[in-house]
Amino acid sequence: MNKQLRNAVIAGNWKMNKTPEETTALINEMKPLVKDADCGVVLCVPFVDLDAALKAAAGSNIKIGAQNCHFEPSGAFTGEVSAPMLKAMGVEYVIIGHSERRTYFGETDVTVNKRTLAALENGLKVIVCVGEYLEQREQGITEELVAMQTKIALNGVSAEQLKNIIIAYEPVWAIGTGKTATAEQAGEVCGVIRKTVGKLYGEDAAKALTVQYGGSMNAKNAEELLAQEDVDGGLIGGASLKAQDFSVIVKAASK
Ligand code: PGA
Repeated sequence: MNKQLRNAVIAGNWKMNKTPEETTALINEMKPLVKDADCGVVLCVPFVDLDAALKAAAGSNIKIGAQNCHFEPSGAFTGEVSAPMLKAMGVEYVIIGHSERRTYFGETDVTVNKRTLAALENGLKVIVCVGEYLEQREQGITEELVAMQTKIALNGVSAEQLKNIIIAYEPVWAIGTGKTATAEQAGEVCGVIRKTVGKLYGEDAAKALTVQYGGSMNAKNAEELLAQEDVDGGLIGGASLKAQDFSVIVKAASK
């Protein structure tokens, strides 16, 4: 495997944080700090902040993403936002299947797949999240589980569409807990994801796939995690709300 063949991408997941005004301020603070990045830089913000984020990031190297989208283009789905709506705003990325969506909002592998397909069909780039709970790791089923989540999420995705997919490995026990997976654990499971994609789409597609690690990645541990052969970037929660910390992670991915 050759890391040079793929793009490193550092994506911030702001979760349910920041008002539009705070969004403008934080992006303005980040812009000069990440402007020389030699990797993709993405910020996934709450729906109500997308407009402010797009305006603040305009003309910079920061791309803007949402944190979810529905699988239908429109209709009676109170509280949901569709892929064509995001596209019409100029949003480029969307996170699908984050473990918080799966745990608190009834998202399943099947709805993750439907949302992924809708996002791709509407020209969005998708960060698909997979990962195991602590009990599942302890049962020794992490590899099978993550391979299965990956396969179901990609059901019906064409080889061409795969180019617009990033897969983020996020062990649920490491999210927001300060408990990071070791670099070896992260590298191992990111490798399983790449192998799974290789079986479905072939070696070349697997080599070109960007696989991120997420779960308490921060300014201190980013370099070690990103040094793993199969870790091509990060999905960053808490540390993406601090301009300085986020920029250190972006710099670690730019080496
Ligand atoms: P964290 O969140 O970096 O705060 O652990 C990561 C994520 O949920 O994407």
